[in-house]
Amino acid sequence: MNRPPLKRFYVKSFGCQMNGYDGERMSELLEAEGMIAAEDAATADLVVLNTCHIREKAAEKVYSEIGRLKRADGTSPMITLAGCVAQAEGAEVLARTKMVDIVVGPQAYHHLPELIHQAASGKVVDIDMPVESKFDKLPARKKVGPTAFLTVQEGCDKFCTYCVVPYTRGAEISRPFSRIINEAHALVDKGAREITLLGQNVNAWSGEDDAGRPQGLEGLIRALDKISGLERIRYMTSHPNDMSEGLIEAHGDIKKLMPFLHLPVQSGSNRILKAMNRAHTTESYLSLLQRLREVRPDIALSGDFIVGFPGETEQDFQETLDLISEVRYAMAFSFAYSPRPGTPAADMDNQIDQGVSKERLQRLQALLNTHQLEFNQQTIGRKTDILIERAGKKLGQMIGKSPWLQSVIIEAPVKIGDMVAVELSEAGPNSIRGRQTESVMA
Ligand code: 5AD
Ligand code: SF4
Repeated sequence: MNRPPLKRFYVKSFGCQMNGYDGERMSELLEAEGMIAAEDAATADLVVLNTCHIREKAAEKVYSEIGRLKRADGTSPMITLAGCVAQAEGAEVLARTKMVDIVVGPQAYHHLPELIHQAASGKVVDIDMPVESKFDKLPARKKVGPTAFLTVQEGCDKFCTYCVVPYTRGAEISRPFSRIINEAHALVDKGAREITLLGQNVNAWSGEDDAGRPQGLEGLIRALDKISGLERIRYMTSHPNDMSEGLIEAHGDIKKLMPFLHLPVQSGSNRILKAMNRAHTTESYLSLLQRLREVRPDIALSGDFIVGFPGETEQDFQETLDLISEVRYAMAFSFAYSPRPGTPAADMDNQIDQGVSKERLQRLQALLNTHQLEFNQQTIGRKTDILIERAGKKLGQMIGKSPWLQSVIIEAPVKIGDMVAVELSEAGPNSIRGRQTESVMA
């Protein structure tokens, strides 16, 4: 097919923050090739769909997304399928649709310029998980806002029985210490004041510092703590079993490490946790949280939950509600279990009726919502800093994040990237109102 020269690209990312990070890096890669970002898919010569496999019926949704890229005049842009669905489907994509030109996995996207070149003479698939790190091949970071993501770890060896990540993202790997520190310096030099370290199992990060000493995530955080100009550090997503005592202590003594932790538990029933292959119990999870609260009493906790896992009884579900009531999460993500092809849980013969799962999910979310509001209400009257990230819906409104990751709306003449002293004044379920104040009490 004859296509106009590739000038404009559009990258559409779905799913987790790690995909968001990959999407940004692919954009930077294409810009380094001289292409420019298009406003939308309709005006792009090259569209990259950076897909997520965690979504329900992920592959089906991707194929209809691809279909929508066909234009009224019968033409379509060059289409690259990236992300976890690309990894999982591989060459199968080319058998299912004629519209896709390039299939590239999350570990191979640094090959994109070369693949685009090859695609001029035929379709290409690259879902290798090469030993060489893609991070070394990517151009320097360009577009940086006040808050930046930095991938430090990828992949997962945990094999929870419901999850596709170990198959789509591969085995756990940690990026080298010095590369991460260099990237953090580059981000701060370009204006980042907050960095969120990303990884599927970010707290499993391990490496060696410049002196050759072995380090865990807390060692990396302590090194980042020394970067002047960097004011806030966060990390996600963590697994309870990799939550070391050293990392817990870091929450007590590193001021830049924000009082927020996303630590998924998935279920409050030990029987279900075992079937999920989570390798922790509700008791071990709760004692971790107790230690965290000892060192950092105001820490905001967040989690992920799956309801309706195969074999989940009303009693198991009740135990999840009990755990939630005990922890009182500041925020949480919750999902009705849905089978992912190729995972052990998909073949379990005690699948739960979808209607039952949906009804449980509603009850669970109602409980989580009351706690989220309660958490926000408790913070009213606190004086703190917010880092301004964007304009609000109404004229004059600006929105920033509190240390506890709440969205705080203020009406004040401030700009994106400002760190503003506020008093939290009014709580809603999803956001808080604040008033600018003079003094800062972190
Ligand atoms: N069904 C429902 N939720 C799932 N998650 C992962 N796999 C599934 C599945 N098969 C959820 C988990 C995980 C989050 C990112 O997505 O809660 O922590
Ligand atoms: Fe998936 Fe479990 Fe690994 Fe998280 S820890 S990515 S849920 S396999």
